[in-house]
Amino acid sequence: MICKHFGTCGSCGLYEKSYAQQLEYKQEKASALLAPFYSGSPEVFDSPDSHYRARAEFRIWHEGERCDYAMGNIEKNGAVTIEECPKVIEPIQKRMWRLLERINASSGVLKNRLFAVEFLATTTDECLITMLYHRKLDEAWREEARILEQELGARILGRSRKQKMVLSEEFVTEELQIDGKPFRYVQYESGFTQPNPAVNVKMIEWAIRQAKKVGQGDFLESYCGLGNFTLPLSHYFERVLATEISKRSIQAALQNCALNHIENITFARLASEEMTEALQGKREFNRLQGIDLKSYDFSTVLVDPPRAGLDEGTIALISGIEHIIYISCNPETLARDLETLTQTHEVIEAAIYDQFPHTDHVESGVFLKKK
Ligand SMILES: C[S@@+](CC[C@H](N)C(=O)[O-])C[C@H]1O[C@@H](n2cnc3c(N)ncnc32)[C@H](O)[C@@H]1O
Repeated sequence: MICKHFGTCGSCGLYEKSYAQQLEYKQEKASALLAPFYSGSPEVFDSPDSHYRARAEFRIWHEGERCDYAMGNIEKNGAVTIEECPKVIEPIQKRMWRLLERINASSGVLKNRLFAVEFLATTTDECLITMLYHRKLDEAWREEARILEQELGARILGRSRKQKMVLSEEFVTEELQIDGKPFRYVQYESGFTQPNPAVNVKMIEWAIRQAKKVGQGDFLESYCGLGNFTLPLSHYFERVLATEISKRSIQAALQNCALNHIENITFARLASEEMTEALQGKREFNRLQGIDLKSYDFSTVLVDPPRAGLDEGTIALISGIEHIIYISCNPETLARDLETLTQTHEVIEAAIYDQFPHTDHVESGVFLKKK
């Protein structure tokens, strides 16, 4: 990928290396952190080099009457206005510049005190655009935004302090081909979504490969989000219990389960720490009413925590389960958690997925089996 803002825009830091060199660098970094626990070389899953991000957020820079998109600068002490962003997928690319033209041409209703624009798009060409303002939105804004929705073939949502104006829908529906089968996912703007759909598919297929090695028993998942892994992996287990802290994500997960006609999953809104307390019988939750936790026989657990990694209770809980699939967006906390997990388990497979090309971020996965 070539971008005229390499070296000034802070969102791509690895621009001096070719894409092949970036992958090599990430593989070395992940291998070094995993070396105490895994002697093999992690399998590497690459990304398209450009047009890979289905989620992007831009600040709006006002200069006189004009607005521009802006990103934090590379020195992290200011902003840089941008004229291109080749990392966004085509459904964003084709709408974002037209949107800017319309904002600049508007009388002010769309422009005044607009401070950021977020895009959430799908490979099926749906796009949700969230416009964030430092002013209360009114009917005049709604009317202009409605026209914009038609012109851009997109869904528009307005946000300001304590206000959310939804014009049509506040979600998009992605369709991913996973091992040749279609899975449909409703994605809300306020819930977590994997940013790179092409790499996400590779990541799910890698997890399926591990699940197939088990091929029996029940499946436990924590940090399940909107059911990204849960739905495809559910086919390889008897019953599934999947938990997640975000109300919005659990709502999406339930919708996604129905959308894909899957009937063996129970979703519950629980923090990972709460799930541990519930499964260890230490605490009861109204949110688990009607679910017989004792009836599950978990052969496999999948965890995909935020950057902070796992809490002690969750580590203790999953240490009792035969197979662990650990997806991580932070190799440092993964390595920390493996210190404990490898006392009971051994790492059988490891992989890195390049969710974030041209940045330092490394997403990785390990499959562990009880010793
Ligand atoms: C890295 S995302 C992964 C989501 C999902 N596995 C996916 O692939 O889309 C982490 C998820 O953990 C959730 N989360 C954050 N803290 C949590 C906690 N303490 N307990 C349970 N879920 C939590 C977030 O809401 C988010 O959905």
